[in-house]
Amino acid sequence: MRRSVVAGMGRYLPERIVTNAELAGRIDTSDEWIRERSGITQRHIAADGEFTSDLATHAARQALAAAGMAPDDIGLIVVATSTPDETFPATATVVQSKLGCTNDSMGFDVQAVCSGFVFALATADNFIKTGQVDTALVIGAETFSRILDWNDRGTCVLFGDGAGAMVLKAGEGEGTSEDRGVLSTHLHSDGNLHDLLYVDGGPSSTGEVGVLRMEGREVFRHAVSKMSAVVVEALEATGLKAEDVNWFVPHQANKRIIDGTARKLGVGAERVVVTIDVHANTSAASIPLALSVAVDDARIKQGDLVLIEAMGGGLTWGSGILRW
Ligand code: ACO
Repeated sequence: MRRSVVAGMGRYLPERIVTNAELAGRIDTSDEWIRERSGITQRHIAADGEFTSDLATHAARQALAAAGMAPDDIGLIVVATSTPDETFPATATVVQSKLGCTNDSMGFDVQAVCSGFVFALATADNFIKTGQVDTALVIGAETFSRILDWNDRGTCVLFGDGAGAMVLKAGEGEGTSEDRGVLSTHLHSDGNLHDLLYVDGGPSSTGEVGVLRMEGREVFRHAVSKMSAVVVEALEATGLKAEDVNWFVPHQANKRIIDGTARKLGVGAERVVVTIDVHANTSAASIPLALSVAVDDARIKQGDLVLIEAMGGGLTWGSGILRW
């Protein structure tokens, strides 16, 4: 059975770090409030003239180097983002050009907000499994700082900019949960929950980019229940148990959501990868950023079972199980 095996990871965070204390100097908030409610201590913010495609390209180069591959070895580039450089073309095609690809491979964006990386991974996995491509670059990249209302203290303190990238390569497995690669992905959405988390603008409605609007408490409530349910779905589909999971790498939205979900699933804190403290919520970039950190510090090793999950605007939510 064809499997999509992880061949390399990369990440990029903009140079500029904005601490909670710096934010507290500009808006009515405090380091204590932000840390207690979200676990965030700082976030990275892209420089003027630094675009989502730039962040994505840096991360992609690192992932390609880790995989020992050249840009033209890649058959598919999927970029998960809600903050594209332009309304069109797809940021993936901009990344394709910035990487120097000349092989006429395909590139497109996936829009599922904070669940974007899980949706992009599932898409790439299906392209590989059906034999349409042998390699894929899956990127989560965001400049969320550009769609925040910097006067809304209930939202602007929670987000940051960044990018994470994963190279996938076709491999042969036995069709069991011992195979290396993506074992299972599970995606959902419910458009009736639009008003809980959205951006109040767009090309077809206001003609402007708009800013993020969120009902934090309601999002919180849905996050723990939906992400736990979609993880259970993934475990049942693969015949695995929470105890089998070596690393739980959730979307980094809020430390309290991460803790609540891990507790509900029975995954001990020592097996949870947390980067929300230093990255804040980077939406579609948060999972590949966290995966990249945990690979680099040798927590995630070949053969480990890794569980990812996310929820975002839409609402959208999803999970994936991979054997590294
Ligand atoms: N600094 C200081 N005070 C603040 C701030 C701030 N930055 N923001 C809000 N407050 C105040 C509010 O005005 C309110 O004051 P009041 O009681 O006088 O009215 C008080 O703090 C409590 O506000 P709540 O919104 O009720 O606080 P809550 O405990 O719900 O925490 C938070 C807010 C952190 C947004 C929480 O609801 C949350 O994390 N929700 C999930 C949202 C999330 O993670 N979204 C990410 C996108 S979706 C995703 O990625 C899954």
